[in-house]
Amino acid sequence: MKVTQLGCLCVILLYLLHTAGSESFEVLGPTDPIVAVAGDDIILPCYLKPNISAEDMTVDWLNLDFIDDRVFRYQNHRNIQDDQIPSYRGRTSLFKEELWRGNTSLKLTRVQGTDEGHYKCLIQSKSWYDDFTVQVLVEAVGSKPVVSIEGHREGGMGLLCESEGWHPEPELVWLDSKGVHLSAGLPETHRDFKGFYTVKRHVIVQETDTNRFTCRVQQSRINEKMETEIHLPSELFDTTPWKISSIVSYCLGAIIGICLSLTICWISYKKGVIIDQLKLQRDDLTKERDDLTKERDDLKKDKDDLKKDKDDLKKEKDDLKKVRGKSCLQIITLIDLFKSCCVFVEHKVESVVAPSFFFVIN
Ligand SMILES: *[C@@H]1O[C@H](CO)[C@@H](O)[C@H](O)[C@H]1NC(C)=O
Ligand SMILES: *[C@@H]1O[C@H](CO)[C@@H](O)[C@H](O)[C@H]1NC(C)=O
Repeated sequence: MKVTQLGCLCVILLYLLHTAGSESFEVLGPTDPIVAVAGDDIILPCYLKPNISAEDMTVDWLNLDFIDDRVFRYQNHRNIQDDQIPSYRGRTSLFKEELWRGNTSLKLTRVQGTDEGHYKCLIQSKSWYDDFTVQVLVEAVGSKPVVSIEGHREGGMGLLCESEGWHPEPELVWLDSKGVHLSAGLPETHRDFKGFYTVKRHVIVQETDTNRFTCRVQQSRINEKMETEIHLPSELFDTTPWKISSIVSYCLGAIIGICLSLTICWISYKKGVIIDQLKLQRDDLTKERDDLTKERDDLKKDKDDLKKDKDDLKKEKDDLKKVRGKSCLQIITLIDLFKSCCVFVEHKVESVVAPSFFFVIN
């Protein structure tokens, strides 16, 4: 019984191994590097042998020159964007219509300097995996060198040469008219975010019989070079006019400087005087204002006094009026008294004395 069970297990295992073996595959691609010109679209070939479908498998493209090396992933019938190297975003794809026949080639668009490297094509099924690595080389010929004159330097003429957009990193040399290398400063190289190189280098040249100098930027791996020749007029090397002109310009500068400072001094002096005058004027006006205020107060007081006087006088007048009325009344009373007296006397005297007296009284 036990033996038959074991035998059964063996048969199953053998069967499983057989099926697994039948699913095994190889991943293949080109053995030579793929050379890409910057800006082009390229295909990184990779395929299964035998040509079984990769539609249900996981396809990874990795750039081994990066630490987080994911360039592209296809899994569960979908493209996976997570963990993709940012510089590849939107530039990678598989040929979906080719997957069923085991073609897992990668399309990479707008090739740039940072794309150079070793790409691993890794394909995994449920029970098997294999990979293949293909190298990509990126070539970019940079711009024609630009030479600029920097002026007199250490008894010679300073020149600068600059060229950009290279891949891989180029070499920059300065040559005289006979093609002899000139000793120059250290080359300065800068790599931009797309991985292209800019190179520049200073040189100090002495006057020669031709005054022709060449800046050459070359890249031996891609066998490319770019040159720019410059011819310097010999007057440029003549330091005398340069000295005279510099002296003249110094003098001019000094004169302008003096004039400027004098003007500034004069303006500030003038300003001071005007300010003093204005201050004085302000003080005078303040005093005048104070005086006027005092005067106004005095006048007000006078007015009040006068009003009071007027009131007093009015009262006095009223009093007087009253007194006069009283006097008049008294007089009238007196007159009346006198009249009645007279009447009395008249009455008494009528018969005795002459009527002429009566007339006088009336
Ligand atoms: C797969 O390969 C065989 C030969 O190896 C070929 O005859 C066949 O056409 C290929 N199939 C596809 C889908 O490419
Ligand atoms: C894979 O597909 C691409 C795009 O159609 C094609 O250029 C390439 O030759 C194919 N590779 C193989 C091995 O069939």
